Amino acid sequence: MKKVAIVLAAGIGKRMYSQTPKVLHRICGREMVFYAIDTVKNISDKVVVVISKNISEDIFKGLEVAVQESPLGTGDSIKAGLSKIYEFPYDTLVIVSTGDNPLIKEGEIKSLLEFHLRNKNGVTVLSANAFEPAGLGRVIRKGKRFIKVVEERDATPTEKLVREINTGIYIFNKEFLEEGLSKISNKNAQGEYYLTDVFEALKEKTKIGVMVLPRKLPIYGVNNRKELSIATSLIQNEIIENLMIKGITIINPQSVSIDYGVEIGIDTIIYPGTIIQGKTRIESGCEIGPFARIIDSTLGSGTKVQFSVIINSVTGVNCSVGPFAYIRSGNVLDKSVKIGTFVEVKNSKFNENAKVPHLSYIGDATLGKNVNIGAGTITCNFSGLEGNKKNPTHIEDDVFIGSNTTLVAPVTIKKRAYTAAGSVITENVPEDSLAIGRAKQVNKTEWVKRRKSSNDK
Ligand code: UD1
Ligand code: CA
Repeated sequence: MKKVAIVLAAGIGKRMYSQTPKVLHRICGREMVFYAIDTVKNISDKVVVVISKNISEDIFKGLEVAVQESPLGTGDSIKAGLSKIYEFPYDTLVIVSTGDNPLIKEGEIKSLLEFHLRNKNGVTVLSANAFEPAGLGRVIRKGKRFIKVVEERDATPTEKLVREINTGIYIFNKEFLEEGLSKISNKNAQGEYYLTDVFEALKEKTKIGVMVLPRKLPIYGVNNRKELSIATSLIQNEIIENLMIKGITIINPQSVSIDYGVEIGIDTIIYPGTIIQGKTRIESGCEIGPFARIIDSTLGSGTKVQFSVIINSVTGVNCSVGPFAYIRSGNVLDKSVKIGTFVEVKNSKFNENAKVPHLSYIGDATLGKNVNIGAGTITCNFSGLEGNKKNPTHIEDDVFIGSNTTLVAPVTIKKRAYTAAGSVITENVPEDSLAIGRAKQVNKTEWVKRRKSSNDK
């Protein structure tokens, strides 16, 4: 029997008070709708995501997308989804889920499918016993028998007391879904087409079953920022626990944030206050933090980072970053590179064993092997004349840059050369030479005494 999934992810998400569509709000770095997609994609022959016009289709590569023209309710949204599965036979099982349900697991949908088939239902609703049912659709039963789902705003005071809620996840035999939808109206408190009204329409036609979710969740659906934060903390815990189980030490799990999909190798230690985001891979045996923020970067094994920010950069093995370094976009560090205290680097390549230990700005530069950059060195990369143009600085192998050197780019310092401390280097420096670019020092001997005697007169 074929199975297709329709994930409802259109609508406005009024309760978020946001410019961003609700299902695109991120949980651990990932748009929330993808958690719902994950739970159905391995068990379906096709996944259709129903989105609104203000969501870009591009982020749903490999999935079928249907657009709901206006947010007329879940019942209208599912119709848009059905239009993309017309080729599937009438007895296809349709898994319906919502894009704001990130806590439901694939295994739970599998059980729901089994329950549906075992009981020979035409429709099965996944319900749950909520600690706090407010805002959710209630499952109304007579004795044990399912009668209907009533939305909070249409519920009577007695119905509101019911704690069994509708999770918004269902299995339909396709023919009944189509038939039920043809019968619903928008005559309710919200003036919307409710998917939940199809049950009333179908109860004479087929067997409608309800499976109660065996676990209790703190929320069923993310509708506001408070629920977003609850979902985030649960998913964050899962990510962190999973890393710990796989051999990563996390000293104070409550104090770190690690995005979905971040990869970390064994024996890496994550110290408190660390945030690891985006497409980041940290190899084994690293020490990250305290207080590091790493975004879209790859760190070679044995690398140490403390009190620093690293964005869109790559380090080799055994590098050392910080404390208080800012590794901006586009840097490549070879092995054993040190970027030390109060150093900002950007779009630069650092070859093996290059060291920038303190108080420097290195931008649009290449540093050869074993280069040592003295404290206070600045690459003057910004031309200031040609728009936003940045000029390159090339520092070849084994060069020693004296403290407080100003390297006015474009400029090249050839192999093994030195620059004298305090130099302003405006011309290329040949191999094996010393460049001195500063006024020669003059000592005025006895100057203090002369001044004193002239003051005394
Ligand atoms: C819905 C259910 C409610 C259930 C709850 C569980 C209905 C009428 N109510 O209520 O019984 O307890 O989910 O979380 O179905 N959407 C669209 N198009 C629309 C409106 C919504 O695609 O026009 C999508 C949203 O993106 C969302 C999902 O459908 O992912 C559910 O919509 P939402 O407005 O959150 O429904 P609830 O009020 O939570
Ligand atoms: Ca919801």
